[in-house]
Amino acid sequence: MLNFAGVVLAFGLVLPAVVAAEAAQDMIAECEACHGPGGVSTVADTPSLAGDGVAYLRKLLDEFTFYERHCTLTSYRYGDRPKTPTNMCNVANSLSDEEKQAVAEYFANQ
Ligand code: HEC
Repeated sequence: MLNFAGVVLAFGLVLPAVVAAEAAQDMIAECEACHGPGGVSTVADTPSLAGDGVAYLRKLLDEFTFYERHCTLTSYRYGDRPKTPTNMCNVANSLSDEEKQAVAEYFANQ
């Protein structure tokens, strides 16, 4: 008998891996377009990231990757970026493990 209780829904959630080619600066600019320059948000429904611990930020990104946190659809808040709204689960799934670690380190050091 197969036990399906532990099966993850990873299959079928095919997300474009376009970020692989992006430079780190583009990646950070993407975060800052919602979380504010330097990760300091002035918008009530978007949390600041600046100064949070590396491990804490990394843990949250992993939780978004696996849909363990609620993913609110959000529009871009900063700069001239009238892009299609997205959510943190999509954002986290567009990053590799190395990229998640890099952005966590960047915002922890702001
Ligand atoms: C389209 C807007 C948008 C983009 C782009 C975005 N975020 Fe978010 N992020 C949000 C919103 C809104 C929340 C809070 C709601 C939620 O938890 O879904 C959030 C929550 C988070 C949290 C949890 C913070 C906490 O204290 O609970 C982290 C960490 C995070 N984002 C990191 C990032 C990183 C790193 C990037 C860039 C790779 C990024 N975000 C890009 C909108 C965005």
